[in-house]
Formats: sequence, C-alpha cells, structure tokens
Amino acid sequence: MKVFVTGGTGLVGEPIIQALVARGDAVQALVRGDAAARRMRDLGADPLLGTVEDQRSWEAVRQADAVVHSAALVAARTQWQNFFQVNVEGTRLAATTARRFGARLIHISSVAVYGRQAADEAPGSRSEASPFGPLHEHDYYARSKRLAEAMVRTEVALGLEATILRPCVVYGEGDRLLIPRLSAVARHGLLPRIGSGHLGMAVVHATSVADAAVRALDTPRAANRIYQVTNDGELTNRQFVAALSDGLGRRIRVVPLPEPAAFGLAHVVQAVLRVVGPGLYPGTLTGAVRFWRGGNPYSSDRAQAELGWRPVVAHQEQITTLVRRCASTA
Ligand SMILES: NC(=O)c1ccc[n+]([C@@H]2O[C@H](COP(=O)([O-])OP(=O)(O)OC[C@H]3O[C@@H](n4cnc5c(N)ncnc54)[C@H](OP(=O)(O)O)[C@@H]3O)[C@@H](O)[C@H]2O)c1
Repeated sequence: MKVFVTGGTGLVGEPIIQALVARGDAVQALVRGDAAARRMRDLGADPLLGTVEDQRSWEAVRQADAVVHSAALVAARTQWQNFFQVNVEGTRLAATTARRFGARLIHISSVAVYGRQAADEAPGSRSEASPFGPLHEHDYYARSKRLAEAMVRTEVALGLEATILRPCVVYGEGDRLLIPRLSAVARHGLLPRIGSGHLGMAVVHATSVADAAVRALDTPRAANRIYQVTNDGELTNRQFVAALSDGLGRRIRVVPLPEPAAFGLAHVVQAVLRVVGPGLYPGTLTGAVRFWRGGNPYSSDRAQAELGWRPVVAHQEQITTLVRRCASTA
C-alpha cells in the first residue's frame, strides 16, 4: 500500500511511519525542513517538503492509496488564525484531496473535541456517540480539532472514506510536551496531588495510537467510523508520580491540593497568560488539572471490537525510562 503521512516528525506520526514501513508499505512523508527529511529517510520513508496548509503539498496524494493525517498544532502559544490554518484548513485539504484521488483518510483527532468538562464524567461512560459539550472561546486547540472533524464529515458526505481516531493525552518517545514538562517540574522534588491519586488517568502511548491507525487502514468496516483510542493499560496518578521519582532518582514530596483550589489557580494563571499574550493560545491549564487529578471517561470498546485494538502498555516502566532520558539530557 502507498501511504501519504503528515506529522511524521511528531510524537504520534513517527511511530505511525515506523509501523507502516515495518510492514512493507511505501510511505511518503510531508515534512517542513531538511533535517526532518533526513530523519524520514532514516526511517525508510520518502520525504516531501511542504506544509499542510499549502494545497500544492497535497498533489502527491494522487499516487497514494491512503492518507494518515497526524500533523497539527497542539500546544503552540500562537494565534487562533494559525490554529485555524494548520488544524482546520490543513484537514480540509487532507479530506478534499483524499476524496478527489480516491484515497482512504485516517484523521488523527482528539478527545478534546468533546469539551474539557467531559473528563469529569464517570470512568468508561463516554462513547464515540456521546454529545459534544461547550468549548471555551480561548481553547483554540479543541475548537480547531472540532472544526477539523467537521471538515472530514463534509467530505464523507460527498463520498470520502475516512476514519477518525480520538486519542486522549499521548506520550512516548518523541514527546515534546508531557514527559519533558512534568520531568522539569518534578526535578524540584515537589508535585501537587489533586484528589485521591487512585483514579485511572486518560493517557495512551503513541505506539498504541499508531497501532490503531494501521488497523483502521486494514479494516474495511472502519470506513466512516470514529474510534476513541484511550485505554492501553492502567496508570493512576500515584503510579505516575512513582515513575517520575524512579526516573529522576529522587524522592518527590506530594502536596495535596483541593480540586476547587486547583481549578481556581488554573483560571487565574490562564487569565494572566491571556493578559500578557493577548490573542495567543494560553494552553489549557484546567485540562491539565483534570488530567493530573485522573479519571478516564473514554471507553475504547468500539476500537477493541471493530479494530481488534488491544495494546497493553506498562506505563510506569515506560514513563520511568523516558524521564531518565530527559534527566540525562537536561
Ligand atoms: N499529543 C497529545 O497528547 C495528543 C492527544 C490527542 C490527539 N493528538 C493529535 O495527534 C496528532 C499528532 O500530535 P503530536 O502529539 O504528534 O504532535 P507533535 O509531536 O507536536 O507533532 C506535530 C507534527 O505536526 C507537524 N506540523 C505542524 N504544523 C505543520 C504544518 N503547518 N505543516 C506540516 N506539518 C506540520 C510537525 O512538524 P514539525 O516537526 O515540522 O514541527 C510535527 O510533525 C495531532 O493531530 C494531535 O491533535 C495529540
């Protein structure tokens, strides 16, 4: 199979390319620079220079059987217009071109589309059919991912075959966000605990998301289906902190922080960030509070039943290894 992949230098995109190359697919990877092009060649993919918001980048899909669209702005401290161009317009081009050339599309979305408050619901209670909730106007990432899905659905109505994957928080080898940031904070020996620390966290390994993407490509039934990819092994906040502690080789003191105080603090910091950087994405600290508290409402029953997606990740070991690596390069 010939597969056109975007976001191949990213946390999720790189294991997707590795998985496709490993099984003998011919992979063309859209990249933004020479260093990225070299990396793609090392992985066994054919690089193509371009950006997702540039229509010309997509002409190469003419030769492809499928597109895996993983590129996105995730936590960039930038304006809405940039989120719109990359995440919404980029996905619109992915979807229209895939339809035009008869290629299958796998779109990497996010559980952020539901609205951040979904994370407060009971474990396993949220399915792909659950309704969307309100989005904060400054939540550029979630807004753009919700609009991006709408772009895919528009093309599906016109004949595109597409699968949408909705991962929860992702970490792994190419992590630029979660593990590096938490390692940097935990290095000071102090972390908050919000709630009991016993709830399962909404976290998934990047290789598990890649596994779902490849399975979606191979599963005819996955056409025009949405899958939450959100359960590949249990991890509580206490286990996460233990993994950070092991990886850093130091004791971490945990300070209980009542949930209302954590949310109050998150709102204040976000308000300050909006003042010091008007128009820039302030990130989602309330989302971070929910993540750190724990609780995973997202069920992966559909992905398990229809894609046979059942990865089991030893999260604590994985996190310890990644933190150790971060610490040695800090
Ligand atoms: N990380 C998470 O926790 C998470 C959770 C749920 C869903 N997702 C989704 O998973 C997908 C991949 O995210 P990730 O975590 O792998 O992000 P990432 O590590 O930040 O990688 C983003 C990728 O997108 C590329 N990219 C950004 N802007 C581009 C542009 N204008 N044109 C072409 N390529 C561009 C980047 O290329 P450069 O190397 O050139 O910057 C990089 O390859 C995204 O759709 C994201 O919404 C992520």
